[in-house]
Amino acid sequence: MAFSAEFLQELAERNPIEEVVGEYVPLTKRSGQNLFGLCPFHSEKTPSFSVSPSRQIYHCFGCGKGGSVINFIMEIERLSFPEAVEFLARRAGMPIPEQRDDPNRGMRARLYELNRAAARFFYEQLSTPEGQAAADYMRRRQISRRVATNFGLGYAPDGWEGLARAMKGAGFTERELLAAGLAKSGKRGGIYDAFRGRLMFPVIDVRGNVVAFSGRVLGDGEPKYLNSPDTPVFSKSHNLFGLNLAKKSKAGYIILVEGNIDVVSLHQAGFDSAVASLGTSLTNEQAQLLTRYTKKVVLCYDADNAGRKAAQRAIPILDKLGLEIRVVTVPGAKDPDEFIKASGPEAFRALIEDSENGMEYRLQAAAAPYDLATDAGKVGYLKEAAGIIAALPEPVAREVYSMRVAEQCSVAADAVRDAVNQARRRKLSAARKRRESEDTRPERAMQPAEKGIRFENPASAAAEEGVIALLQAAPELFMGGAGPKPEDFSSGELRRIYEAMLALASRGMDVTAAALGGELTPQEISLYTNIIQTRPVSAARAAEALADYIHKIGRKPPDSGGDLRAYAAMKQQTKGYGGDSHG
Ligand code: UTP
Ligand code: MN
Repeated sequence: MAFSAEFLQELAERNPIEEVVGEYVPLTKRSGQNLFGLCPFHSEKTPSFSVSPSRQIYHCFGCGKGGSVINFIMEIERLSFPEAVEFLARRAGMPIPEQRDDPNRGMRARLYELNRAAARFFYEQLSTPEGQAAADYMRRRQISRRVATNFGLGYAPDGWEGLARAMKGAGFTERELLAAGLAKSGKRGGIYDAFRGRLMFPVIDVRGNVVAFSGRVLGDGEPKYLNSPDTPVFSKSHNLFGLNLAKKSKAGYIILVEGNIDVVSLHQAGFDSAVASLGTSLTNEQAQLLTRYTKKVVLCYDADNAGRKAAQRAIPILDKLGLEIRVVTVPGAKDPDEFIKASGPEAFRALIEDSENGMEYRLQAAAAPYDLATDAGKVGYLKEAAGIIAALPEPVAREVYSMRVAEQCSVAADAVRDAVNQARRRKLSAARKRRESEDTRPERAMQPAEKGIRFENPASAAAEEGVIALLQAAPELFMGGAGPKPEDFSSGELRRIYEAMLALASRGMDVTAAALGGELTPQEISLYTNIIQTRPVSAARAAEALADYIHKIGRKPPDSGGDLRAYAAMKQQTKGYGGDSHG
C-alpha cells in the first residue's frame, strides 16, 4: 500500500470521525462513549449505528459494518481506498503523498475529464448549423435555453466520428473513449461515436462530475434513449438524473419521475427537486442516495399501467428506508411533462399538495383488480388490504385504514379489524420463528458479520478475537513477544489483524483503525472494529485473560462439527472478560 500508517493516522485525526459521519448521518443520542444514529448501510428504525469519537471508529451493532473514517467514506461515497484517502485529504486541506500505483485512479480521473470535455463538445454543437435540429426539437418540447444550459444539454452530431475526432484532438485516446462508453469499436478496427443524432443529457453525480450520458432521438425513432453503459465512473443503479441540481433544492421533498424530459420540464416550471432513475426501476442504492438529501419523496410516475406498477415497486423500497412517501398521478396526461404543459405549474403544485400518501395508493392499487360490487371481489380485496394494513406499526393508522376499507366494501368495520388482527398475528409469529431459528443456529452466532470471512475453528477464533481485544486495550502485555504466536491463529483474517496491530504497537504507535487501513482489507478492518467495539476488556484481569486465551488458541473442538452450541456459549462468556461484572 502506498500510504504510511503515520500519514493515515494524521488523515484520520484531521478528519474527526464524528464530524465527517455527522455530515451524512444525524448523530444525536449519546450513550457512554458512543454517539448513535440510524445506520446508513442498512434499513432500520431505531439507531444501532455507533460512532466512537475516542476510538475514532464507527460500528453498526445491527449490520456489523464498521471501520475508520476512511472506510466510512469508501462505503458511503463508493470510493476505492486511495480515492477515499484523497477525498479526506482534500476535505482537510492536506497534501496527498505521491501516489505511484492505482492505475484505476488515473483512469477514473481521465474519464471524468473526458466526459466533461464531451459534454462541452455536445453543448457547443447546439450553436452549429448541424445542431439546429436539436435546438428546434428543444423548442418544440418547450425547453428553454436557460434550463437547457443548467442541465448542460447538448447535441451529438449525426456523423460517425464527430466526437471521437474532437476528443482525440484534445489528447484523449481511443481506449479512453471506449472505456467511457462514448465510442464503440468498428468491425474493421478503429472506433465510431456511440451517440449520433441525439439530444444529449449529461448525468452529473452529486459531486459535480459528469459520469454518463443519456441521448434521446429527435422525434420518433428506436431506441428512444441510448444510455452510457456502466463504466469505472458510472453505475446506473447508483445515480439519479438531476440529483446534482435537486440536492440543492429548498422544497423539502424530492420529486421522483420516470423521464429525463419530465425532470427538465419540472425544473423549468419551478419544481427544482425533480429527479429520475435513469430508466431503471428504482434501486435500493438510488433510494439510499435520496435519504442523504430528503425525508420525503413525491412519486410522480407516468399515468399508464407501467407507471403505476413502477410506483408500486418503488414504494416499499422508499418505505423501508423510512422515507415519507406521497404519490401523485397526473390526470388527463401521460406524464408530468405533458400535464405541466397543458395545465400549468399551479395545477401541478395543487396535485402535490393533496397527494395521497403511500398507504392510500397501495390500497387503491390492491383494489384495482377486484370488482367490489361482487362478494368474491370484496373477499379478495379484503384479504389483500388486511395484509397491507397489518404491516402498519401504528395502531391508530391501522384503525383509520380499516375503517376506510370497510366503507369501501360496505362491510362492518369489525370484520376488517378481525381480518387485520389475524394477518398481524400471522406476520408476528412468522417474524418470531425467523428470529428464533437464527438465534438457535450456533454456527451463525459464531461467525463474523463480515461477508467473505468464515471461521474454520470458531472456538479458537473466539479466543483469537479475545487476544485482539486485549492487544488493543493493553499493548504493554504483548511486548517482547509475550503474546501468542501469529502462526498459531486458526483464522487467516484474525492473524493478519493481530500481526498488523503488533507491527504498529512495536513501533510505539497507537493502534487505530485508520493506521491499520494501509495493511488490512475493509472487511478485516470491519472485523477488527467489531471486536474492539463489542468486547470490553478490563485492565485488572487482562494478564489472566491472556493466559487463558493462549491456552485455547488452536485447540480443535472435541469432535469436529460437534457441539458448537457449547462453543457459542463459551464465546458469549469470553466476551465478558473484564466486563465490569467480573470487576
Ligand atoms: P420515456 O419514454 O417516458 O421518456 O422513458 P421521456 O424522457 O419521458 O421522454 P418523452 O417525454 O416521452 O419524450 C422514461 C425514461 O426511461 C428511459 C429514459 O431514462 C427515459 O427518460 N428510457 C426510455 C431508456 O433508457 N431507453 C428507452 O428506450 C426509453
Ligand atoms: Mn415520459
